Amino acid sequence: MKFLVVGSGAREHAIAKALHESTSRPDVYAFMSNNNPGMRKICVDAVVGNTRDAKAVVEFAKKNSVEIAVIGPDAVLEAGISDALWDAGVPTVGPKKAAARLEWDKTFARNLMKRHNIEGCPKFGAFKDAEAAGKLIDELGGQVAVKPSGLTAGKGVKVVGFQLADAREAKEYCREVLSTNMGGLGEVVIEEKLIGQELTLQTFVDGKTVRGMPCVQDHKLAFEGDKGLMTGGMGSYSTGELLPFIKRDEYDKCIAIVEQVVAALSAEGIDYKGIIYGQFMLTKQGPKVVEFNARFGDPEAMNVLALLETDFAEVCRHIVAGTLADKKVVFSEQATVVKYLVPEGYPQNPAKGEKIEINEKSIARLGAEVYYASVDEKEGILYSGSSRSIAILGMADSLEQAERTCEHACSFVKGKLYHRRDIGTKALVGARVEHMRKVRGG
Ligand code: GLY
Repeated sequence: MKFLVVGSGAREHAIAKALHESTSRPDVYAFMSNNNPGMRKICVDAVVGNTRDAKAVVEFAKKNSVEIAVIGPDAVLEAGISDALWDAGVPTVGPKKAAARLEWDKTFARNLMKRHNIEGCPKFGAFKDAEAAGKLIDELGGQVAVKPSGLTAGKGVKVVGFQLADAREAKEYCREVLSTNMGGLGEVVIEEKLIGQELTLQTFVDGKTVRGMPCVQDHKLAFEGDKGLMTGGMGSYSTGELLPFIKRDEYDKCIAIVEQVVAALSAEGIDYKGIIYGQFMLTKQGPKVVEFNARFGDPEAMNVLALLETDFAEVCRHIVAGTLADKKVVFSEQATVVKYLVPEGYPQNPAKGEKIEINEKSIARLGAEVYYASVDEKEGILYSGSSRSIAILGMADSLEQAERTCEHACSFVKGKLYHRRDIGTKALVGARVEHMRKVRGG
């Protein structure tokens, strides 16, 4: 078969790799926004262009007789590229614009949960007016999260006690979101602050059936010890289907919530085919929804696709055909650790255009994997872009070993880069387990 991957970050590199390694050995094509050398190496043809340009993506797909497309980035889904591909006869893993609204319009996602009485929805309100938003902030005792309704590349959410000192700063931020039209939808969502541990649960969805993947925990803050600014995600780990602080019945509850969301969309005439990424907060009262994303996570895609034992091309075929109920999806129970090497100064002033050297052979000898992200290759030399550069994955029977392998492999990447050494370590994971024990009142 012939597959097209749209996008060119490490997430899309992982998607392309999983397709390339499928037992049916499909031909993989890529439509990329930057020249990802990892994708170029495994794809039959890979071009650079505007991934939000429907005409250009469809033309490339048709020229290469692509049979299934897989879309990585949220901004591409928001641009309706899935709609254009389906209209052109190319079944696509990645929801159409109306379904991807679950991610690109937080007001829509919360109202959907409310309309259908879906569990795990925190108290919230959506506002076009800062005065009215301020009233809800006061009603919630100032303990809130402030979220621009539209897309902000994962950097728009601010929470009191973290990025905001108090209710006054929360109100000020509301005014900023609305006056600058942050997120592009002219709306801000205020939610009660959730206390607990966050986890990512990604699912395959064919419009009816939901198949869960192993839980992953991402690390959004730039520096060790969870300090610094919000980033796209500095790295993530997994420990089999469950994380050390989540119980089986809580995992099942998260899956049930996603199933209710898919049923609610379907009841409103919206067919969701692709990935639903649930960002959950595990609280004393059980899992609550932080947000939904309409795609694989980045870096979380790398954790789960590396563990997928079922043929990924087959899974994609079942998603677009709406026959996922007929397909068992199996993951290895190993542990994974992903660490991102990012340019010095990231996320504020990334050192762009700096040379990067990677000793891929030494990394492969360790059994680790390299995924290319925001980099460019010119005349065989690799340069940093303005976002995360390289992701390294370690995988092993124990988390300790996966972390050690990942960290060792990071030492074979040279350049003006930094990464978080603490991700997946016993100390950090142990602190999170202890925090959850306290939250549960234990
Ligand atoms: N890792 C966060 C995200 O993909 O949105």
